[in-house]
Amino acid sequence: MSTIMILIVIPFVLASLFPCFQAQTLPSRFANQGQWQLLHPSIGISPMHMQLLHNDKVIMFDRTDFGHSYLPLSNGRCRMDPFDIALKLDCSAHSALYDVATNTLRPLMIQTDTWCSSGAVLPNGTLIQTGGYNDGERNIRMFTPCFDETCDWVEFPRLLSQRRWYATNQILPDARVIVVGGRRQFNYEFLPKTANPNSYPSSVPLNFLQRTSDTSENNLYPFVHLLPDGNLFIFANTKSVLFDYKLNSVIKEFPPIPGEDPRNYPSSGSSVLLPLDENLVPLQAEVVVCGGAPRGSFESALRGSFMQALASCGRLRLTHPNPNWVMENMPMPRAMGDMLLLPNGDVVIINGVGAGTAGWEHGREPVLTPLIFRPSETVNRFSIMAPASRPRLYHSSAVLLKDGRVLVGGSNPHVFYNFTGVEYPTDLSLEAFSPPYLAPEFNPVRPTIRYVTNNNVLGFRTFCYVTFSVSDFGSASDVSIRILAPSFTTHSFGQNQRMVVLKLRGVTYLGGEAYYATVVGPSTAEIAPPGYYILFVVHKGVPSSGWWVQVM
Ligand SMILES: *[C@@H]1O[C@H](CO)[C@@H](O)[C@H](O)[C@H]1NC(C)=O
Ligand SMILES: *[C@@H]1O[C@H](CO)[C@@H](O)[C@H](O)[C@H]1NC(C)=O
Repeated sequence: MSTIMILIVIPFVLASLFPCFQAQTLPSRFANQGQWQLLHPSIGISPMHMQLLHNDKVIMFDRTDFGHSYLPLSNGRCRMDPFDIALKLDCSAHSALYDVATNTLRPLMIQTDTWCSSGAVLPNGTLIQTGGYNDGERNIRMFTPCFDETCDWVEFPRLLSQRRWYATNQILPDARVIVVGGRRQFNYEFLPKTANPNSYPSSVPLNFLQRTSDTSENNLYPFVHLLPDGNLFIFANTKSVLFDYKLNSVIKEFPPIPGEDPRNYPSSGSSVLLPLDENLVPLQAEVVVCGGAPRGSFESALRGSFMQALASCGRLRLTHPNPNWVMENMPMPRAMGDMLLLPNGDVVIINGVGAGTAGWEHGREPVLTPLIFRPSETVNRFSIMAPASRPRLYHSSAVLLKDGRVLVGGSNPHVFYNFTGVEYPTDLSLEAFSPPYLAPEFNPVRPTIRYVTNNNVLGFRTFCYVTFSVSDFGSASDVSIRILAPSFTTHSFGQNQRMVVLKLRGVTYLGGEAYYATVVGPSTAEIAPPGYYILFVVHKGVPSSGWWVQVM
């Protein structure tokens, strides 16, 4: 056994003797209901897709084939697209890069249609976007973040083996991306394509997607989560499986979610994989699915009758030998909600409607109040937040920012940009929701990260020291160190979103208000695929502002 191994093993033994390190106190003192902030009355596009990148810029995009946007392209650029359905010469932008620090926006140029597409960030920080509609349905596009104003989309035509419209992506432990499904696509494929395209088939059938497609589909944008055992959890309609993508084999089928109501597009509930806590032995993996629209909603909406959305959430503990759904109700029904993991392990459920479904003109009764869901509480798991002033229906999105705010944008249930003569006008504004933990009253217990060792690289099973300061420190059992992979959010699902609570080996007092936490990097690439994560120090349930680290 090498010295390094011994160094690692000893603290493991110590930790099992002192299980207090595993506790994470979640205060019930968040009396406030959070706060809304209007960042821009109009950014010129209605971002239905958003992803935070590791330079704290959020890339957002809309679609290209519905006429001009309200954000001009810069430097006299225009797009000539003979295949565009609405506007062949278009001098407006359909994508933008939002700089969180300066609250400014830079227009970006997309060549072909990205409508209802999918994406994932590669381990090196480059966003890979897949598919869309019309001339964009088999294209991929890459965006590599830069620290100046030069970077833009680079497009690779016809690199996908199938059209990918309403597909879901998941980054894999080996740095590939799996692209699952899409409209009438009962198959999956991998990216980037290797130098030798014959090294694996271009697309692989997945019967599960076929048998979960009903008359209004209800299985698009499947909920895909990479599990610690290396398999994928795939949820579509009411059914879910444990799927081995290496062997193309369904290992296990879970019971359908009770109630028989569909949860995927256009029924559009949402889902998260709850934080994977490496302090718990054995590691637990649990998935939550919340909201959606009852069976028949889409057909009913087509006839002008809008059924009440679902209020139920199901939790499935995948590491249990015989997993079974545990159901509970949210305080109000919601379809098209976005579920985002918050730095302290809570979940925000934001945007959406109380009646109807996804699809053109199909949503009614916007739900203005976000919910905070605290999965680890035994009672009172839901809190109702302060209402937003703007409805966010179909084609809205939300992502978590490094500072703990939730960026909210979009809402366009119309084929075009329609601001008048419709019940829910296209919304081009950008807002931020500040969850209760950001209230100044928590500043005394709020940690501030000062330094992360090893140049912010978090190696697998490797010690890492996180220096932070806090004025009113409790004890080591009040501290947890978490890393979060930001989501590619579209259509009510945060693709690739995941949180890992790192193994905490202790908290050491440095003097003054300074401490350092000794943590161990993720155990495996199945638990945390390589790439950029935001690290948070959470103290008494109050998170620090985040700090970018690279898991590798
Ligand atoms: C990341 O990897 C992709 C795929 O290999 C490549 O196209 C891209 O340029 C890389 N990005 C950086 C920042 O090196
Ligand atoms: C939206 O606007 C377009 C033209 O810009 C118009 O043709 C269409 O009828 C409008 N849709 C609705 C639902 O009013």
